[in-house]
Amino acid sequence: MFVDQYRSYQEMIENYLENLPWGEGILSESMCYSLLGGGKRIRPVLALASGAALGGKSEDFLPAACALEMIHTYSLIHDDLPAMDDDDYRRGKLTNHKVFGEGIAVLAGDALLTYAFELLAEPLPIAPERQLRVLREVAAAAGKSGMVFGQVQDLAGEDRSLTLEEIEQIHRDKTGALLVASARLGAILAGGSEPELEAFTLYAQALGLAFQIKDDILDIEGDSKLLGKTVGSDLRRHKATYPSLLGLEGAKEHLHKQIAKAKQSLKGLGPNAAFLNGFADYIEQRQH
Ligand code: IPE
Ligand code: IPE
Ligand code: MG
Ligand code: MG
Ligand code: MG
Repeated sequence: MFVDQYRSYQEMIENYLENLPWGEGILSESMCYSLLGGGKRIRPVLALASGAALGGKSEDFLPAACALEMIHTYSLIHDDLPAMDDDDYRRGKLTNHKVFGEGIAVLAGDALLTYAFELLAEPLPIAPERQLRVLREVAAAAGKSGMVFGQVQDLAGEDRSLTLEEIEQIHRDKTGALLVASARLGAILAGGSEPELEAFTLYAQALGLAFQIKDDILDIEGDSKLLGKTVGSDLRRHKATYPSLLGLEGAKEHLHKQIAKAKQSLKGLGPNAAFLNGFADYIEQRQH
């Protein structure tokens, strides 16, 4: 069952993250405050499931998959800062800077990002060239031509009306890039062929776009309690989103098309794509 498998991946991830040698002090406290006990773990689950779909062993990829969650968490801490989206709630509690102050929040983000690369470089029972490729791809996806660049464009787009193409490009960078890197991480470590890697890329590109469209829909019609973050943030910051351009119904149609496209991309995997197909449906239907 999809739900059981998802829960079992989540448990592996929580377990691994909780048992890292965190030590004491304000920095570790701030890092753990945001990283542990919250979050859907979508990126590491996608990595583990992509590897498993190609016959890889999840345990072998766990440190690398969890590194993705650290990069994602750092991006959320920084995204919530007053200088960016200025949000007060995340994962059901006050945002990091509200508790620890802006200075420590910036630094906790920095430390999570660098810790991620320590985990990515951890020796795995996998051919080192595969691991090196993953390292390079994750760095590129997170950085100046991926997520960080997308966040820059997102800020630049505030108070401006953008075309659908421009919004789509922002989504591809700020959200899609890390999801693509997550799926590819699993597929590369599992020894996927180039055509297989291409199929995972297409899947995750469509999924990434769908994921951000859904995030923007939930920002309008979601329930703050369920979401664990304040709704209406995009409207307040005058963000260009799919619903702002196409209306809620138009955005939902677009979301549905992307989910269908994601599933279509993995047709070649046959029954091995079962969990990833379920994952795509979950992205469309999720309420938090
Ligand atoms: C929220 O990501 C930020 C976006 C990229 C839209 P998630 O919805 O995956 O947040 P968590 O990790 O579950 O809190
Ligand atoms: C965040 O997008 C994307 C990244 C953090 C890279 P949003 O700003 O829409 O995410 P939420 O809604 O605050 O979670
Ligand atoms: Mg933002
Ligand atoms: Mg935000
Ligand atoms: Mg949002």
